[in-house]
Amino acid sequence: MKVAITGATGFVGSRLVERLTEAGHQVVVLTRSVSKAERRFPQTQFPNLEFVTYSPATVEEWQGALSSCDGVVNLAGEPIAEKRWSVDQKNEILNSRIDTTRSLVQAMGQGESKPQVFVSGSAIGYYGTSETASFEENSNPGDDFLAEVCKQWEAEAKKVSDDVRLVILRIGIVLDNGGAVAKMLPAFRAFAGGPIGSGKQWFSWIDREDLVSLILKALTDGQMRGTFNATSPNPVTMKQMTDTLGSIMSRPAWMPVPGFALELLLGEGAKVVLEGQKVLPKQTQASGFEYQYGELKDSLKRFV
Ligand SMILES: NC(=O)c1ccc[n+]([C@@H]2O[C@H](COP(=O)([O-])OP(=O)(O)OC[C@H]3O[C@@H](n4cnc5c(N)ncnc54)[C@H](OP(=O)(O)O)[C@@H]3O)[C@@H](O)[C@H]2O)c1
Repeated sequence: MKVAITGATGFVGSRLVERLTEAGHQVVVLTRSVSKAERRFPQTQFPNLEFVTYSPATVEEWQGALSSCDGVVNLAGEPIAEKRWSVDQKNEILNSRIDTTRSLVQAMGQGESKPQVFVSGSAIGYYGTSETASFEENSNPGDDFLAEVCKQWEAEAKKVSDDVRLVILRIGIVLDNGGAVAKMLPAFRAFAGGPIGSGKQWFSWIDREDLVSLILKALTDGQMRGTFNATSPNPVTMKQMTDTLGSIMSRPAWMPVPGFALELLLGEGAKVVLEGQKVLPKQTQASGFEYQYGELKDSLKRFV
């Protein structure tokens, strides 16, 4: 296969690039900065990568790179939990996703030959947050800011032409070295770990290896079409997550991080961590996808 990827330099995309190249596939890295991408994927280790500068404003300049591709994977977007949610930052979170997706759909539509499959990211924020409800793929969307972002993001992807198979993945909290949980490890190592906020919020997670396997399945399984929750079948609460992490690390997990500390840092964005949603991957399991790390302790043991 030849696969073009936006967000290839990110946490999820970089592992996808590694797995695709290890399996002998060709990869086109669509990036805002080729020099940064070349540093992330040095030529000595990744001799066959193609790097293409893309911007939503210059579709004509890079759309040719998609013509020879079998699949396109869309993982680009401004990080949601790194900066305070000012009005400008919220616009960036939304527009980075909408503009990229719209330009990919436009490029695929105008190209000489279309890729067979478009795998486009979304997030479990689609469902809003709740301590009591559980959400499957056909559940209604929420009504907060992230739900609105996901709705618009998915709506842009759905504009792809009917002869391109579309797979939308609503991604949960991705676990591996470098993700959300990795940020908690120093506190645990220092015997100062604990749940963030009340601990009652749901934590619907997926191991990064499983997420990449699911993207690979979406690229190759012609039966997969539509929307799939990219989460483990075993969501936990924040407290269950930190208790499991503490027991694996042989460290206590009783030092809670108060919600206001995170609110000071992220403002409204703290909601991403302080509130959650219980998401079940009904369609993903129905597709026959087999999780290698479906249990939290197995995932954490892999990299902690
Ligand atoms: N990680 C998670 O736990 C998680 C959970 C749910 C959903 N997701 C979604 O899955 C996708 C991949 O996640 P990730 O953790 O791999 O993300 P990431 O590490 O933050 O990487 C995202 C990539 O998007 C591009 N990007 C960053 N800011 C951008 C901006 N303002 N405008 C356009 N492009 C921008 C960058 O690529 P270049 O600089 O090379 O262009 C970056 O490498 C994201 O869309 C994210 O929302 C992730």
